[in-house]
Amino acid sequence: MNKFLLAPSIIASDFTKLGDEIKACESAGADWLHMDIMDGHFVPTITVGPLFVEACKRVTKLPLDVHLMISDPDRYLDVFAKAGANNITVHVETCPNLIQTIEKIKALGCKAGVTLNPLTPVSALDQVLPLVDLILVMSVNPGYSGQAFMPEMIGKVEEVRSKLNALRSRAYLEVDGGMAADTIPLMYKAGANVFVAGNAAFKHPLGVGQGIRVLRDCITA
Ligand code: DX5
Ligand code: ZN
Repeated sequence: MNKFLLAPSIIASDFTKLGDEIKACESAGADWLHMDIMDGHFVPTITVGPLFVEACKRVTKLPLDVHLMISDPDRYLDVFAKAGANNITVHVETCPNLIQTIEKIKALGCKAGVTLNPLTPVSALDQVLPLVDLILVMSVNPGYSGQAFMPEMIGKVEEVRSKLNALRSRAYLEVDGGMAADTIPLMYKAGANVFVAGNAAFKHPLGVGQGIRVLRDCITA
């Protein structure tokens, strides 16, 4: 079995118990904490910002996987790096000078990720695939937790995987949106190796610890 990582998406947690939710993620073996930063402009929702990232950083050693769904992310890269982001992922739709953006993320000491909305073709990544540490395929339209997985995105993951293999790239291939025990195996088979989970992790009736264990066990071969 190829190794895979689980990245619970903290915006689906109970913010009144944030520290406990993060500790439960750690104990259940989460690999990264995924953080959805939304600005009410690039996407309709407003979530959290660098102060929140910084607060989470104080209570965990898990790598913080920061997904910027904001317009003009270049203005805020250093702020998120200082707040404790380990990975910073930007949307290709928001970066007119994507190569410079990637270089800046790396210069700040973070892993550089790129992502694309469901309707954006994989060819938008061609120039930057050799440069990035992480590619995130959105399997919902960004904006909310709890949306249905778009099965059309299986082919997109396969396409990115074959391009990464052709480059002999070891970049992470992450999927975000509607990931649960029935959809993770499909994306794993297509070639993804990092899975973001909001609802499936945090809304498990027995709590996030059990939510993560179920997701860990859904890949069996
Ligand atoms: C979607 C966000 C996701 C979201 C995932 O805009 O980027 O990270 O929180 O939530 P689920 O797993 O519930 O679809
Ligand atoms: Zn996300």
